[in-house]
Amino acid sequence: MSYDDGTGYIQSNCNYDPVCQDDGLYLSWTQRVSVTDMDNGCTDEGGGKIIEAELHSECTAVITHMGTTYQKLTRPYDPTEVCTSSSSSSSQYVVDQMTQEEKYSLVNGVGWKTKIQQDGYFIGNIPGVPRLSVPSIKMQDAAQGFRTTDIRQVGQVTSWPCSLGVSAAWDVDLMESWGKALGAEHRAKGANVILGPSINVHRVAKGGRNAEYISGESPALGSMLTPAYVRGVQGAGVMAVAKHFALNNQETFRNSVNSVADERTMMEVYYPPFLAAVQAGVASFMCSYNLVNGTHACGNDELLKRDLKGRMGFEGWVMSDWWAVHDVDYPNAGLDMDMPGDDGNFGDANLDNLNDGVVDDMVGRIVGGMIGVGLMAEEEGGEVKFPSLCEIPDGCEDLYFNKTATSDEHVALARKIGAEGAVLLKNDGNVLPLDGIKKIAVVGSACDPSNDIEKMLKVWNVGNYFVMGGSGRVIPASPVSVMEGVKEASAERGIEVVESISDSVEEGVAAMEGADVLILCGATTSTEGSDRDNLYVDQDDFLKEILAETEIASVVVTMTPGATVLSNWAASADGILNVFLAGEETGHAVADIIFGSVNPSGKLPVTFPLSEDDTLEPCGMLALTDCTYEEGVLVGYRGLQDKEVGFAFGHGLSYTDFEYEWGEEGGEIGREGGEVKVTNSGSVAGREVVQVYFDGGEGYELKSFVKTGLLQAGESVVVKFEFADKDWSIWDNVLGHFVVKGGEWRVGVGGGSRDIRITGAVVL
Ligand code: BGC
Repeated sequence: MSYDDGTGYIQSNCNYDPVCQDDGLYLSWTQRVSVTDMDNGCTDEGGGKIIEAELHSECTAVITHMGTTYQKLTRPYDPTEVCTSSSSSSSQYVVDQMTQEEKYSLVNGVGWKTKIQQDGYFIGNIPGVPRLSVPSIKMQDAAQGFRTTDIRQVGQVTSWPCSLGVSAAWDVDLMESWGKALGAEHRAKGANVILGPSINVHRVAKGGRNAEYISGESPALGSMLTPAYVRGVQGAGVMAVAKHFALNNQETFRNSVNSVADERTMMEVYYPPFLAAVQAGVASFMCSYNLVNGTHACGNDELLKRDLKGRMGFEGWVMSDWWAVHDVDYPNAGLDMDMPGDDGNFGDANLDNLNDGVVDDMVGRIVGGMIGVGLMAEEEGGEVKFPSLCEIPDGCEDLYFNKTATSDEHVALARKIGAEGAVLLKNDGNVLPLDGIKKIAVVGSACDPSNDIEKMLKVWNVGNYFVMGGSGRVIPASPVSVMEGVKEASAERGIEVVESISDSVEEGVAAMEGADVLILCGATTSTEGSDRDNLYVDQDDFLKEILAETEIASVVVTMTPGATVLSNWAASADGILNVFLAGEETGHAVADIIFGSVNPSGKLPVTFPLSEDDTLEPCGMLALTDCTYEEGVLVGYRGLQDKEVGFAFGHGLSYTDFEYEWGEEGGEIGREGGEVKVTNSGSVAGREVVQVYFDGGEGYELKSFVKTGLLQAGESVVVKFEFADKDWSIWDNVLGHFVVKGGEWRVGVGGGSRDIRITGAVVL
């Protein structure tokens, strides 16, 4: 009997239901659905869930499970097998009417020649089939909003906080609002695909793209936030693309590094956010540049066919990362689209050589994605929910270059996200929020950094302290710096500001004269294509020196692209506020926290280690190296559990205090969940991120979280958590599926991975 055991992966196990006998054919890891079982109308009641399976074609079945439909193959796994009809009947209907030429045009990008984007085209482009109402596909990055590649676009779109900065709010609803706004801006500019979300779990602290990876160090955080992004974007009529699948954890030698990991590590750490994207109905996946266990990801049959389309039941299409196709044979491994399409691998002659049905399957997946989001008529005579705004190459230029997609509401949302994602790391003597202050000294070059638009337009992967470099970059027209934000807020409050926008200790000390508080800034950036050289802010020495000279209260604002080592000076600062590269509203968001108009509630999605030596370096001094994930599942904070850290994963202070106790009704957390009562025991309203960690013998691991609404002083809320067997399971490499781990599990609930307030135990 095959069933989804609640882990999201389709499993096989005869013992679950004595009535349904497996005929022996389908018990491989490929999780095929037994035809016999379906004929018998068997259902799985083992986990209390009913699965309905129905034979769909010669070799596929459609399984409906709790409202989600999976398509599964019914034969033993064969990588060369052609199995059509991943598509729903409506996409099949469209595919059936296409000529071969039309089909071929849908699987290979256009609009790039010798790696140069052509006029009239987006970052990624697929021609439409107008006679069948199939719109052209127009793709644009992603990680900080609508990617700007031309001066005309700068200022037309919002330069949002980086994805990691949004994650730092630990707020599912806020993530969805961001997704909605991203979707709206992409559509307004004519795009119907956003090349995001980026969801790889951070392995290497120096990872050049960590700023764009929503998951931070935690598969659970990534799995809870990713669906919200997908819902928001796709609800606005734009197809989302989960990337980069998989084990794309460093930029160093990104095209040739071979990530080597065992199944447990992949299933428990690196896959969960991707599985969450599948379950949220994401239209597409982008396979990554690197190799996984010896084979390039985009030609990796185990990754794409076995794991993604098989085990996870992904029905959408897989596109390559840009120029990541190295062989004409990749469709047989599960790749459906070659991007940007100028490498010739998916040329007509090569597609001609594929077995019958392969191209139909590829095209069906693409058309299915469009139907799913509402981009075309569902079936003959159906309604088009999100009609195409323009057609490449001639019709989109006006929108692409001239349409303003940002708005006051979006700028306000960018500010809100910036403040909600700001993490108050330290607040000795309650230096923040500023109160009773007459004069502020703002000191350091990072408080008013440059935003060299011309340089950024010339070099695609230059970043600054507002935005990271690379494909996810949205160049801000005139970003608000910390200095500007603080000045504006001070003026409203009648506070004097003196500034020294240089890294001269002497000038800084002079500026402090007569001030009540010192605001210092430190920052660093990162980019796609290379990893960070170090984990320090660029002004580390300056901060250390000036803080040694400071006799007044001091607050350091850091703007960072991920994990950062602050230990050279952190002890000397009274307050430290970190924002991840926060886009055009940086200074406003920072001022909102500093002056207390927003009570901080952000939490670190990554560890800020005490030393660089405590982190995993990117692999390889040589290209083509194996990068063995020896740490297994003990990634990020889990690998550092026995070490002192600078600031722990999940950490973030508030201007109020919260008390924790087990909920009134259900008592403490048990196998199926429980309730936690949180009370705002301080004197101002605030929000708390209630985090639940389990320890099954390998240290605490985040399993779930809930961000409360705004709790007034003295107010309580009871937060409910539900858990299923998968939360108490580990992947068994030998059996090839998740197994509930018996014995005692520790349960810890609190406001951070090292701020556990109440504990319990569950014996399984
Ligand atoms: C990046 C992708 C991006 C693509 C198109 C590649 O360099 O890895 O994330 O979507 O370019 O810009």
